[in-house]
Amino acid sequence: MTCFSSADESAHYGFSVCMLLEQYRAPLGWEAEGVVELGTGDATAIADVVRSLPGLRVSSFDISATSVETARANIAARGVADRYTVELGDFFDQADAAGGPSVSTVISNPPYIPAPDGDILMPELWGGVHGNDLVLRLLKAGYDNVITAVASYSDPAETIRTAADLGYRVANFLAMGLDYGAYSGEPKVQRHIRRMCGEGRGWAGEDGYMVAIALFTRSPDVPGDRADQLLAALQVS
Ligand SMILES: C[S@@+](CC[C@H](N)C(=O)[O-])C[C@H]1O[C@@H](n2cnc3c(N)ncnc32)[C@H](O)[C@@H]1O
Repeated sequence: MTCFSSADESAHYGFSVCMLLEQYRAPLGWEAEGVVELGTGDATAIADVVRSLPGLRVSSFDISATSVETARANIAARGVADRYTVELGDFFDQADAAGGPSVSTVISNPPYIPAPDGDILMPELWGGVHGNDLVLRLLKAGYDNVITAVASYSDPAETIRTAADLGYRVANFLAMGLDYGAYSGEPKVQRHIRRMCGEGRGWAGEDGYMVAIALFTRSPDVPGDRADQLLAALQVS
């Protein structure tokens, strides 16, 4: 097993999570409850967020033993091990074992690589045939607030439609263009992405794609709905 590594994407994730937590500090209530995270990776992005937000506690899970080991070292090096904990295991198993969410906010840069099967460069990054399996599972897991990456080539329209059906609004988001990297640039994955986009299940450019870190909420304390702007930012409206 390897550890996910994509500096630009992780920085986008960390910066955006920090902005959204800051902007919606009171209504999300994370200072009282903490947040949970699906997919720690090497932990550097969120460790820096924990360091810059003194009231934040993050309980994170990753299925990759290498990632957990690397993450724990990076978290310790940044001096936030008391507020950023990492467990080895499937995020959904812990949620099920607890009988539902113990906090109202989950953060994640989940696996979103679309491919016909999980036989890809890093199988832990497989997001199902359309890439959005894990985002959809997160939206169905019972959290009031889901801060998650949404990729333009992973059927974002279906994701946003499903979120709306489940009672979520898109409160806000930060979108960024990313170049294809080792995982999304793998030939098998590229062929699948082109096929999906041809079927109207997303957008992918010649050299890259768009990723938004979006706050889906069903809290009445968080106003607004920017679903249409999110679709436009992901080039799919
Ligand atoms: C795209 S990486 C993101 C890592 C890190 N958050 C970042 O942005 O740098 C997704 C991570 O999710 C982990 N993962 C995949 N499925 C998971 C699951 N069911 N439960 C917990 N972690 C999972 C993978 O091992 C991988 O480290």
